Amino acid sequence: KPAREMVPRPPVVCILGHVDHGKTTLLDTIRKANVVSSEAGGITQHIGAYQVTHKDKLITFIDTPGHAAFSNMRARGARTTDIAVLVVAADDGFMPQTDEALGHARVSKVPVVVAINKMDAPGANVDKVLRQMQERDLAPEDWGGETLYAKVSALKGEGIEDILEAIVLQADVTETIVADPKGEVEGVIVEAQKELGRGSTASAIIQQGTLKPGMALVCGENYCRVRQLINDKGEQIKEAGPSSPVKIVGWSGPPDAGDFFKVVKNEREAKKHAEANELDRKKLEATQLQERGSTSVDDLFAAIEKTQKKSFTVLVKADVYGTAEALATSLQSIKSEKIDLEVVDMGVGDITRNDVLMSSAAKATIIGFNVGIENGVTSVAKHHGVNLIQHNIIYELITQVKDAMTDMLD
Ligand code: GTP
Ligand code: NA
Ligand code: MG
Repeated sequence: KPAREMVPRPPVVCILGHVDHGKTTLLDTIRKANVVSSEAGGITQHIGAYQVTHKDKLITFIDTPGHAAFSNMRARGARTTDIAVLVVAADDGFMPQTDEALGHARVSKVPVVVAINKMDAPGANVDKVLRQMQERDLAPEDWGGETLYAKVSALKGEGIEDILEAIVLQADVTETIVADPKGEVEGVIVEAQKELGRGSTASAIIQQGTLKPGMALVCGENYCRVRQLINDKGEQIKEAGPSSPVKIVGWSGPPDAGDFFKVVKNEREAKKHAEANELDRKKLEATQLQERGSTSVDDLFAAIEKTQKKSFTVLVKADVYGTAEALATSLQSIKSEKIDLEVVDMGVGDITRNDVLMSSAAKATIIGFNVGIENGVTSVAKHHGVNLIQHNIIYELITQVKDAMTDMLD
């Protein structure tokens, strides 16, 4: 491999923080402010990431969901970003998930910029937040420390320039924000989905090289001959360089959020790599099964206990793969002493007849987050006695699952 020729690239930034401290509002406000100023009437398309300009410098934001159920994705978010913006509501101060997010950033050695949000709120207490920062080794710059911060009101659109300025300053002192635009293409998946008429698409951030239509990519067990590249404004583009957020059209299936991809010679090579990766996984699974077969007394007891314990079986469907995965993980953690929860499968897109038939065979309940049901499938579910639990709010969904599990015990 030839040595890389590194040049500065835009920083990739993720927004972390406690529930309801204003992450989404801040991302929306930043995006709107920028769209309005740079290209009136421009349509932003949600691709899980977007770019804004501050004083001629580009910043890439990853739009990660904030609820506790997404901590899995959030952890990945921190690993693939250059700077974490930690949102702390001025009226609430540091909360458990603020510290959890800070932990993710520290483990990944990602520098943290603090956005003290909700400055307009009646109970706003900046001094308390600054003290809490100092207690956490995040001493603010104007208190003799090194942490850049800005006071903002995401709701009123105040302090937005200040937080962008802090991000740009942090980027200037972070030496790792470089890439080789001429090198071999590498990137990371932010979200993946199946889209009507487009097939499997994946939103990604390019990390090295410059991606162009026609190139072949491999990502885990999926591969791609790039049919189209679409930017965060919904426009088709001819190339995407380092730190660009881009939707890639042409995947064999939706790759996993957080997975890395690389370019290979051609589509045939890509397919070969993907198939080899699939085989590796199957071999590993077979080995693990075999190992479990050599039963110890403990395993035996666990197995007996398991057959005595009831199990609530679910099939998870969500709008994007990362969410399905995060939901499956969070569901698996709610098993109780008396009842286990088992995820038989998860997938992306509306609930289909196939999902119902599979759930019927597995005696599973279908859990749908942010998805619809294909025409006529409700009656098929009724006919097969398959229960559906759907909601667009994650904690409502989890509450309903818990209720259904409790019902099962009666
Ligand atoms: P999750 O994604 O659920 O973790 O929440 P979040 O951190 O994305 O917070 P979100 O942006 O959804 O905001 C939560 C609530 O706080 C909403 O009612 C917002 O309107 C409100 N909010 C956000 N920013 C501000 C602000 O600057 N000032 C005030 N007063 N309220 C705000
Ligand atoms: Na919220
Ligand atoms: Mg949010």
